[in-house]
Amino acid sequence: MFSMYLGVRLGYYKAMSEGGSINSTELATRTKTNERYTREWLEQQAVAGFLQVNDETAGSKDRRYTLPDPCREVLVDQDSLNYLGALPLILAGALRPLQALTEAYRSGQGVAYSEYGAECIEGQAGMNRALFLKEMGSTWLPSIADVHERLLEEPGAKVADIGTGAGWSSIAIAKNYPKVRVDGFDFDEPSIAMANENARDAGVDNRVKFHVRDAADPGLAGQYDLVVAFECIHDMSNPVGALKAMRSLAGAKGAVLVVDERVGEAFSTSKNDIDWMMYGWSIFCCLPVGMADRPSAETGTVMRPDTLRAYAREAGFKSVEILPIENYFFRFYRLIP
Ligand SMILES: C[S@@+](CC[C@H](N)C(=O)[O-])C[C@H]1O[C@@H](n2cnc3c(N)ncnc32)[C@H](O)[C@@H]1O
Repeated sequence: MFSMYLGVRLGYYKAMSEGGSINSTELATRTKTNERYTREWLEQQAVAGFLQVNDETAGSKDRRYTLPDPCREVLVDQDSLNYLGALPLILAGALRPLQALTEAYRSGQGVAYSEYGAECIEGQAGMNRALFLKEMGSTWLPSIADVHERLLEEPGAKVADIGTGAGWSSIAIAKNYPKVRVDGFDFDEPSIAMANENARDAGVDNRVKFHVRDAADPGLAGQYDLVVAFECIHDMSNPVGALKAMRSLAGAKGAVLVVDERVGEAFSTSKNDIDWMMYGWSIFCCLPVGMADRPSAETGTVMRPDTLRAYAREAGFKSVEILPIENYFFRFYRLIP
């Protein structure tokens, strides 16, 4: 993972994806890096199986390397659903406050999201970007008939996106529904700065506005046709407060959608890749972030359906419907007021 981090951060994979084979001097020149380090990295990547070598017997500086197409897709193509170039970034972010994290296990304090830094935000954004842009308007929202119809109608619908991070869910909704206006909310200023830049680059900043706000702020006002929260309720110290705010933003007519990890219904040690992965994020990032503000529900990434049902009940919702939308990582909940 951390050798991939160097490849992504230093632009090695990107430079190699621009075609043909390359030697260490050419790659170092193209990426403005040091030749000796670059040569060692190339050899490591070849031995690890990421890169192909044209002639193994050539002298180390003459040896030419290529990035095979399947690796190019995973490491460079940000628009592919198979893109994982953001994974080493988010992993580096998740481990950034390792000392503070270790101490938190002793003290019971949390670790603020800001301690995880820009790479956590950038990595999270990169992991979900292609998924949101490709699936939001083609399968996810169209499969909720009343919501889909409202988003297409005049007058243009209003959408609130809670815990939007770098904004890709808001941008995806706006791109797929040209009449819609979206307000994205997040309490993390650097995330909102990144979201504003992403909306500008995507050409939707006239219809998508981002705001630095706590999701549980009872002062959140407005009347929205759709209120969504992607992969963030489990991070919040006050998930019930956030759900209450979502309920009030949706009023009597709006729909409330929570999308969170597709973890098992109950704790089990029998093989479940999603729980395995989500516990990993939880012990390093989501649980300590959720414990940074007090009082805290102390949820963690592994928020099971019954936990969300209990939060929703406490927030005044009548029931929670699990929507039949297929996705490997996410479960889609519709909260009924
Ligand atoms: C795992 S990220 C998900 C970001 C984005 N929704 C996505 O799916 O890529 C969780 C987000 O929740 C935000 N968040 C956590 N607690 C919050 C709160 N109380 N109010 C607003 N945002 C919050 C964090 O700042 C972070 O951007």
